Amino acid sequence: MKLKFFLTILPLLISTNLSAQKDIDQKVTQLLSKMTLKEKIGQMNQYNGFMNFTGPLPKGGDEKEKYDHLAKGWVGSILNVRGAEEVRAVQKIAVEKSRLGIPLIIGFDLIHGYKTISPIPLAEAASWDIDAIELSAILGAKEAAVAGINWTFAPMVDINRDARWGRVMEGAGEDPYLASLIAAARVRGFQGKNLASPYTIAATAKHFAAYGFVEAGKEYNTVDIGLNTLHNMVLPPFKAAKEAGVKTFMNSFNDLNGIPATADSFLQREILKGEWGFDGFIVSDWGSIREMVDHGYAKDEKHAGELSLLGGSDMDMESSIYIYEIESLIKENKISIELIDDSVRRILKVKYELGLFDNPYLYCNKELEAEITGSKEIVDGALDMAKKSIVLLKNKNAILPLKKIGQKIGLIGPLAADKNSPLGNWRIAAENNSAISVLEGLQKYTGNDLNFAQGVKLVNKVPDGFHEEVQINTTDKTGFDEAIDLAKKMDIVVIVLGEYGFQSGEGRSRTELNLPGFQQELLEKVAAVNPNVVLVVMNGRPLILNWADENIPAILEAWHLGTQSGNAIAQVLYGDYNPSGKLPMSFPRSVGQLPIYYNHKSTGRPGVDGEDAGSVFWTHYQDEKNSPLYPFGYGLSYSEFEYSDISLSANKMDQKGSILASVLVKNIGQVIGKEIVQLYIQDRFASTTRPVKELKGFKMIELLPGELKKIKFKITEKDLKFYSANQKWESEPGEFNIFIGKDSSTKKKKSFVLN
Ligand code: NOJ
Repeated sequence: MKLKFFLTILPLLISTNLSAQKDIDQKVTQLLSKMTLKEKIGQMNQYNGFMNFTGPLPKGGDEKEKYDHLAKGWVGSILNVRGAEEVRAVQKIAVEKSRLGIPLIIGFDLIHGYKTISPIPLAEAASWDIDAIELSAILGAKEAAVAGINWTFAPMVDINRDARWGRVMEGAGEDPYLASLIAAARVRGFQGKNLASPYTIAATAKHFAAYGFVEAGKEYNTVDIGLNTLHNMVLPPFKAAKEAGVKTFMNSFNDLNGIPATADSFLQREILKGEWGFDGFIVSDWGSIREMVDHGYAKDEKHAGELSLLGGSDMDMESSIYIYEIESLIKENKISIELIDDSVRRILKVKYELGLFDNPYLYCNKELEAEITGSKEIVDGALDMAKKSIVLLKNKNAILPLKKIGQKIGLIGPLAADKNSPLGNWRIAAENNSAISVLEGLQKYTGNDLNFAQGVKLVNKVPDGFHEEVQINTTDKTGFDEAIDLAKKMDIVVIVLGEYGFQSGEGRSRTELNLPGFQQELLEKVAAVNPNVVLVVMNGRPLILNWADENIPAILEAWHLGTQSGNAIAQVLYGDYNPSGKLPMSFPRSVGQLPIYYNHKSTGRPGVDGEDAGSVFWTHYQDEKNSPLYPFGYGLSYSEFEYSDISLSANKMDQKGSILASVLVKNIGQVIGKEIVQLYIQDRFASTTRPVKELKGFKMIELLPGELKKIKFKITEKDLKFYSANQKWESEPGEFNIFIGKDSSTKKKKSFVLN
């Protein structure tokens, strides 16, 4: 659209939007006036899919009770019911049996794809490709929406600094700037421009807030952080999601500075609904209202209901506390009806916006479901995203890409032929074993002699009686000999090691970040008989790869890449896609360094460059370097990029002015390649201590061999703002350092002063 034309119609667009909102507000008011108290409370009640809705009616017990609630209009939302038919059946009960026929909003954890699985969110973040990430959300929403889902519990926008925490796989890494761009992209992707389209769904920014800061990376643990970290590090991606128009927030299991997030009115009422003006609704996490009793914050369930309502939680996920307790809390004057009306208003508004009142079956079209599930568009999108998510960590002597003919290739490792692990965690609707394995991907390249040996076997386990998992066995080494014999005879070995698909995710914290089981031993034995080893790592979190980094010539970080995993990995190994990803989280050298993140404070004793353990007594660790093995932003390519020094257009800037920082980047490699040029800024001194550097911009460029480009970043006062000692976002005059380079460890620097 031409800018001039757009500007002419802008007032019209705004007024149409405003009148649509007004219309919805009026409808909500009308409906609210017809609702009984119990029906209102019902909208605030969410149940997990408790029965097969296309099957027979329940005869008694819990199922029967929940069914009755549904038919009476005492349920506002159901989660985990999926498939056009099944959703239609549950929706029919709400719409046709209940007095007012208010449609349900159908929630689901669409975290990285529905049936066609895209890379885990941490992997997608490694692409730094915001458009691709948005497209991935668009496609995921489309496949889920036609299967009846109209609300996803994603994106998770928690900042993660500690790889022990299993849920780092669901986030966008450690940096608030990158994570904010990604949060907004995912919200735009899920929700689209028109929420009432049958292909778009409401999104959720979760977990509000600070779940990523659980102590010691231990799942569900305590969080104790100050306002400085909360505002500068934790909240920005939530704010970005809000600004992108996210319809819902989910609070979190953790407490924050002594208050369970579910009941935290400072977070939910003061900041989110107050200061930020969020007008969507907040859902609790699964049972988190009831868990406040275990937290020791509520004396019983009723008290928990009271506290979470006062704290701002609008919908109760699976605690069944609101539906049973709110009425008496109102009678006892502990809760006002205004609070209930406010929550119900918020929930109904989103239902109207989704188009559910116009057509409750909008998302339940069997024909569309058949046409769109696994369609070429969606599968191609998953493959594209998977390739972009891979990070090349090491490539000594350009051992990669592999030659396409005349090679004897040994493919080894428990995950090499595994079709399940690449799907990762949170892939509820995907078929088991539906990923393309690395073996299958490599088999498409027929010019080489490809041979496979598993080395370490997999075992099937059902650890929590809930879902079957393929795990890496920890007792059986009988596959070793075959793998080592194979390695001896091969020109090149590709060894695929790492974490099985469910080894990260919720409830999957670890105290070790090694290659689990006998994999490290297998790697060492294989490397002892063949120097040409390419290690492909599959994982849901940063792992410690020190030995591999010292001893293996090539390492490819392949995360859990989803359905198209094997194709993507093969295309990168063979150079049909030149790797372009950069790490969104630091990879530590040891667990003792955790939490480790590039945007840390300086301290009064910053340590020295080089950082050899024990070289000087003020180095922080006696037995380890301070730096990570691979820093945030790190990633190689089959091309090589050379950076010039930085030039600045000026060395002083006024509050309203700007400075241009530029570098020349040249591809000095042999092939065309993409580079992500990164801009970091350090506020030299301020009213609070500031990080040693912070990402403030990046540009993805593509250069032909020998090509040189000037890359410019415009810096304004806005880029220098932070949550200051005045407890507000502002910049402070003074000196700033600018760094531009290939990753966060870059030392190339220039300074300027903000007047
Ligand atoms: C608990 C998880 O913490 C949350 O992220 C998820 O959305 C809900 N369960 C629903 O599955």
